[in-house]
Order: sequence, then C-alpha cells, then structure tokens
Amino acid sequence: MLTFHTPLDLVRERLPEKPVACVRPERVSLAASWFQENFPGEVLYAVKANPSPWVLDAVYAAGVRWFDVASEAEVDLIASRYPDATLAFMHPVKSRKAIERAYFDRGVRIFALDCLAELEKIVAATGGAQDLTLVVRLAVSNSDAGYALTDKFGATERDAGVLLQKTRRFADCLGVSFHVGSQCMSPSAYRDAMALASRVILRAAVTIDVVDVGGGFPSAYPGMSPPDLSAFVDVIDECFEDMPVLMNADLWCEPGRALVAESSSILARVELAKPGALYLNDGAYGNLFDAAHCKWPFPVKALRANGEFAEETSEFKLYGPTCDSIDVMEGPYILPSDIREGDYVEIGMIGAYGVAMATRFNGCGETDTAEVKDAPWTSMYGQLPASTGRVLAFPRQKRLRKGT
Ligand SMILES: Cc1ncc(COP(=O)(O)O)c(C=O)c1O
Repeated sequence: MLTFHTPLDLVRERLPEKPVACVRPERVSLAASWFQENFPGEVLYAVKANPSPWVLDAVYAAGVRWFDVASEAEVDLIASRYPDATLAFMHPVKSRKAIERAYFDRGVRIFALDCLAELEKIVAATGGAQDLTLVVRLAVSNSDAGYALTDKFGATERDAGVLLQKTRRFADCLGVSFHVGSQCMSPSAYRDAMALASRVILRAAVTIDVVDVGGGFPSAYPGMSPPDLSAFVDVIDECFEDMPVLMNADLWCEPGRALVAESSSILARVELAKPGALYLNDGAYGNLFDAAHCKWPFPVKALRANGEFAEETSEFKLYGPTCDSIDVMEGPYILPSDIREGDYVEIGMIGAYGVAMATRFNGCGETDTAEVKDAPWTSMYGQLPASTGRVLAFPRQKRLRKGT
C-alpha cells in the first residue's frame, strides 16, 4: 500500500482518477487497544463494519482474537486469516449449510439465535452437538441510537423466557445478547437493556454463562458529542455486577463503528461543478451509502493540487457517479465557492460502513487504498500532535471482574 503524509500530498503527487480510501491503521490499533485495556471482558470485533485486510490486521495486532462474524464469507475470511481466532456467528438467521460448515469445517462453536426455529436449525445442522455456546438475542430499545437496528432481530421480553429455557437444554454455555443500536449516544441505553435482560433471566430461571452487550459504541461525528467511552464501560461494568448470572459468567462486547470510524476518509474527485451541486466520482452506491441514505453528517474538506481556494464558502449537494437520481448526498456541505472540476473532496470519519458497503453498480465503485499519516477529524481516543506524531491515548487499568 502506498503511503503519503497527508491526503493533500496524495492529491498533489498522484491526481487520482479513482476514489481513494485514505486509511490510518494506527488509529484502529489505538481504538482496539483502548477496548482491550478498558472493557472488563472479551472484545469481539464486528467484522461487518470494515473487513479490509489492513483493518483486520490492525485489530489483531492490538490483541483482539475474538471476532463477531455474520455470514459464511466472514467466517471463512477470519478463520483462514487467523487460525487462532475465536469466531462467534452472531447473525440470528443462518442457512443450515452455513451453520454446518461453520461448525464442522471452521470450528465455530458460538451461534446466536432469536427464535425456536433457528434453535432447531442449529441443533440439527451441528448433529446435536454438545459443545455449543448459544446466545439468545433480545429485542431492546434503540431510542438513543443514531442508527436504529430495531424490528428485524431479537426475541421480545414476552417470548424470550421460553426461548431461553429451551435453548438451555442444548447449550453447553448459554448467553444473552442485544444491540442498543449503532452510534448509541447514552450509556443508560446499556443500563436499560441489561435490566431487561435481567428480568427475562429471572423469569426464565435459567443459568446464564455469557452476557454480550453487542456493539453501538459511538464515534465523534460533526454535531454529535457522545459521552466519553469510559462512561459506557463504567455503566456496563456496574450493571453486569448486578445481573442474575453465574458468578463466573463472561461479559462480551462487539464494537464495530467505534473501532474503525475515525480511521478512514474518502478522496473523491469533482467531475463537474454546477451552482450548488458537485458531481463526484464516488457516491451512494460506492463508499458514501450512509451519507446518502442515512443523511449521516460526515465532515468534508476541499483539496486542490495547485493553488489555493477562495475564502468564501457555499452550500453544495454532492452527486455520485451513477445514473440513479437517488445517488445524492443532500448535505448541505459547506465547501469553497470556487471549487471546480479536478478538485477533490475529502469525506472524513468514514471507516465504518463505508468501504464495506460499496457496490459496483453502473460500473462504478472501484476504490484505491493509500495509507496516510495525518490525524483524523476527531477522535474518541486522543489526538495525534502534529509536532511529534506520537499517539496520546489515555488507557486506564483493566479492572478485575467479579470472581476473577
Ligand atoms: C450483532 C451485531 N454486533 C455488532 C454490531 C456492530 O455494531 P456497531 O458498529 O454499532 O458497534 C452489529 C452491527 O450491525 C451487529 O449487528
């Protein structure tokens, strides 16, 4: 992978014709190290957030050995890249063949489910295995999330008791999990979800070996100021102590966004400028799905190979390269008024669910990757002072869990 000091250096040296993902692997390692040091349990990287090899290697280098995988392709990717990894197949709906191959060919022992039909599939596809860790996903409120993940998955509080009791019969280890929604802005969402889980466990009167608080940990996008990540960890730690689970029960989390969001930006070239509108070579079907469809507030910056921009700014819509009219990022994005064809727009904070979502629709979407050494827009983990290039993080002592 080519390395440049900054995205502007890249623009000046290469005038890239394709979109470029500008990546900062040390920011992923820093985030993963923070979770490893501060989360009082096992950290599973949610591969779907960004399965790029440089991300996986940075996460692995930080000591993460557990991975939340949600498809057969993700199982194969992680199992073949890291033979010592522990894989948790956390998609609540899987084909029988996917379960069978994961269990028999890839050694996966951890499976999620949210209904009796999926339990039956897992039991049948693993030949009635006796060594399964089965994790029942509960439906919880997503009202504090920037990106809600409700409705699709999760046993309701009413149904979860029977499901837990039946799952217990087939599970060597039994867990509960939930997802409070992505970009969760309030630690109390985890408190409420863990309280709900406790009620369900007490009503079902089952022993619980694992509590998995899922993902949802936030990043600092423009206009969103989440509390410090340690506030989330403190609430989870405190609530876990009070849960009606085995003394030596394990606590897991599955961060995706929080490990990768701030590590990448996208350099897109302006192919045409009209008043109030820029036509870029990347868009909704490429790396900018969330900017288009979820109106996510990504930060932007204009880059020009030769010369300076005017100080005056204007509001712009950004159009992607396909012919589809929904290939538009409405913004409005504030950029120099004189931005023109051949300039570049850098879209920041796009390491999570950016490259991972890109399609090749309309023959577009091919993206190059280059490493850059500048600091990201914002960080939940500390700044990179320009003078030293040193990472300043503020890890705390990993606390000892109950029973350890
Ligand atoms: C089961 C599961 N775990 C973890 C994650 C990662 O969530 P986040 O990126 O919000 O941390 C997701 C995201 O969809 C998920 O579905």
